[in-house]
Amino acid sequence: VKAKMIVDKSFRIAEVDKRIYGSFVEHLGRAVYGGIYEPSHSSSDEGGFRNDVKELVRQLDVPIIRYPGGNFVSGYNWEDGVGPVASRPRQLELAWRTVEPNEVGTNEFFKWAKDVGSEVMMAINLGTRGIDAARNLVEYCNHPGGSYWSDLRRSHGIEQPHKIKTWCLGNEMDGPWQIGHKTAEEYGRLAVESAKAMKLIDPDIELVSCGSSSSTMPTFPEWEATTLDHTYEVADYISLHQYYGNHDNDTPNYLARSMDMDHFIQTVISTCDYIKAKKRSKKKMMLSFDEWNVWYHSNDADKKIDPWSVAPPQLEDIYNFEDALLVGSMLITFLRHADRVKMACLAQLVNVIAPIMTENNGRAWKQTIFYPYLHASRYGRGISLMPVVDSEKYDSKDFTDIPYLDSAVVYDEEGDALTIFAVNRHLSESLELTVDVRSFEGYRIVEHTVLEHDDLKATNSPAGEKVAPHNGGNAKLEDGIVKSHLGKASWNVIRLA
Ligand code: AHR
Repeated sequence: VKAKMIVDKSFRIAEVDKRIYGSFVEHLGRAVYGGIYEPSHSSSDEGGFRNDVKELVRQLDVPIIRYPGGNFVSGYNWEDGVGPVASRPRQLELAWRTVEPNEVGTNEFFKWAKDVGSEVMMAINLGTRGIDAARNLVEYCNHPGGSYWSDLRRSHGIEQPHKIKTWCLGNEMDGPWQIGHKTAEEYGRLAVESAKAMKLIDPDIELVSCGSSSSTMPTFPEWEATTLDHTYEVADYISLHQYYGNHDNDTPNYLARSMDMDHFIQTVISTCDYIKAKKRSKKKMMLSFDEWNVWYHSNDADKKIDPWSVAPPQLEDIYNFEDALLVGSMLITFLRHADRVKMACLAQLVNVIAPIMTENNGRAWKQTIFYPYLHASRYGRGISLMPVVDSEKYDSKDFTDIPYLDSAVVYDEEGDALTIFAVNRHLSESLELTVDVRSFEGYRIVEHTVLEHDDLKATNSPAGEKVAPHNGGNAKLEDGIVKSHLGKASWNVIRLA
């Protein structure tokens, strides 16, 4: 199969907001306890946080991390997680039916996030709680001092305010599974009033209004229209969540799921712009795709976990090679929407549907999906360019006209570098790619990194990595044209400078 692309410096979509390479740590399964935090582990720091895990998070260069949930946040009393650890309550955690020991809370997580170089995206509980708990949390975290909650923080040993900038107004409030699930009207009213109070305390914060839990929700996109009617002027972003799986083992169809994601994003943009027009507003609502990933491998195992234990192995998907291809395509989709998608969080970061796994008191290791995420985070910063693509196409069960080539291009003006991200969706043939890079005179190929494997179902494990990238790609540059044969079913990063 063949595909051609034209890339030009002046075909600009927008500057990539680095926060699209964000991630998510929820109090769920072994994400916190036994994941980032394991005091008994040989690599742990004085606070009990694993240094081997921190090192892998730093490699990924994660700019922002959502916390503490997820479904968890909709039943969370943030006050349980601050102050002397010995007096924190053990609580029944209803979202995942576990016991929450509250050894880690806001202050510990904030310190850890700082240590790994990430900002915190804090979610508030709009399930069981509301305006009061939200405003108190903002005061506790962001107010310098001289008031009850800010002085309480100082009495907990945190003199300087955390200055948390980004706040989610609840989590998946459209979902019947959510504790305190609400109708769009109920949520819209509660969100706008909470937002008002939060911004009165700290006018510099940015707020994310809750969008749909997936594109298949029966209330999508009416949920967006109704809730934004309330929150449009106080919110800066609307959230999107989406997970995919290859339940029926139909890989050509599975690899096309990023087209569904693209359509989801376009529909949310249209709905935001409709409300903008309706309100005669000058403001453009941006998108926060703050949960996305593949999630399905662990579904059956999770049904067998007994309730009410601390940190059971929930949502521990072991990712295979084809999952890494779809994750690559999802990242490509964000880059092509760089003008409106300003934040995105790979859900999640450690152990729970995660690129990083840990053994209890053992190793930390990288899943297959670690690699496309790493490459995009490392090389996908700069200006997202709109490639003009002409690719052969195929049809699958749910999609038509799926281009075999899925691609995005990022131009790093300061570093004088160009990166082409490309997935070949063809499962049995290489893809003959030509890219006209005419405006990049004097550039040379720096590296052509490839993630490929003969077995689509190959996985990594603590014992070793079957799926790891190599730099032996065959891209060549002659007379302003990049030529390459992209291997069947492969993720490619072609870097020029
Ligand atoms: O990331 C796992 C769960 O998926 C989150 O808790 C929830 O928000 C979503 O349904």
